[in-house]
Amino acid sequence: MLVWSVASQKGGVGKTTTVASLAGWMQKEHLRVLVIDTDPHASLTSYLGFEDVNLEHNLYELYATPNLDRDFVLNAITRTNFQGLDLIASSMTLATIDRKLSGRVGVGRILANALKLIEDCYDIVIIDCPPVLGALMVNALFASTLVLVPTQTEFLALKGLEGMIRTFKIMNQVDNDEGIDYTIIPTMFDKRTKASVKSLDILYENYQNRVWKSCIPIDTKFRESSARRVPLPIMDAFSRGSLAYRELFTKLIAYELDKHPHLVTPASASILSNDDEDEVVSEDVSLNKADIVAKSVADMVSLNTTKGAD
Ligand SMILES: Nc1ncnc2c1ncn2[C@@H]1O[C@H](COP(=O)(O)OP(=O)(O)OP(=O)(O)O)[C@@H](O)[C@H]1O
Ligand SMILES: [Mg+2]
Repeated sequence: MLVWSVASQKGGVGKTTTVASLAGWMQKEHLRVLVIDTDPHASLTSYLGFEDVNLEHNLYELYATPNLDRDFVLNAITRTNFQGLDLIASSMTLATIDRKLSGRVGVGRILANALKLIEDCYDIVIIDCPPVLGALMVNALFASTLVLVPTQTEFLALKGLEGMIRTFKIMNQVDNDEGIDYTIIPTMFDKRTKASVKSLDILYENYQNRVWKSCIPIDTKFRESSARRVPLPIMDAFSRGSLAYRELFTKLIAYELDKHPHLVTPASASILSNDDEDEVVSEDVSLNKADIVAKSVADMVSLNTTKGAD
């Protein structure tokens, strides 16, 4: 089972959209996917159709209960309307978690331990983080094989990225295991604006091997999809935004297959061969695709997030 966190200390950069879109593709590929909403604002929970954010079972109970067992964790999971896509919902009470957990030993590893108990139940887990460095984000980062850092292609967001990278460095100093592996995902790229093009260049230049050599374009359909409570790949698989997330999804699986082959289930690995067979041949779509990227096709193939390259 792979575990990915989507995290940034900057708000509004596309974290929740990234989780919903990757999960949407996984659901379409019949993978068993669990998403975890660790943001007390519960955007992901409501994106997936749950208006009442105080569902009976939610993430708070995992943090509040010492000595978790497998049944307890399974019980905290809510099925969504999309078969195969399950959710551990957020709740407003999560906002109090830092206070609640203060002083408890091993406080940063609660989520990692909980996920270990159910590691045979899912192909992939994706965790949506709040834009705040605290116990919720630290738990998500420690539980992950890979952290995705969506970064809006605008100057202020680049500043926010520096804060996140400092956090990774601090965490790597205290964690003796593998350390935190991360990939920056440029989001909301608008090729018509100079600021967007320039900041994408800065990202490629400054973060080289740590940045995905493609980007998620601006697509108004994301707002429509969250308003309709349906992940965009399920609502409209051929929109520009969907196609970009499809490409990201396959690159990430290929990367994990190289890096953590023992954690990639056969079902997840199989999407790579399906992808060759199902190559979309539609003139419209390929035109859109060409619009999406600012860099050459050759650039897009590379997803090399070699550790220590930053
Ligand atoms: N590629 C995109 N094109 C257009 N709009 C987008 C794109 N990605 C996200 N959005 C929109 O931008 C807004 C912020 O996105 P999102 O909620 O995913 O960010 P976030 O990082 O999770 O925010 P927060 O820090 O508040 O949790 C949403 O309205 C979303 O629909
Ligand atoms: Mg969010």
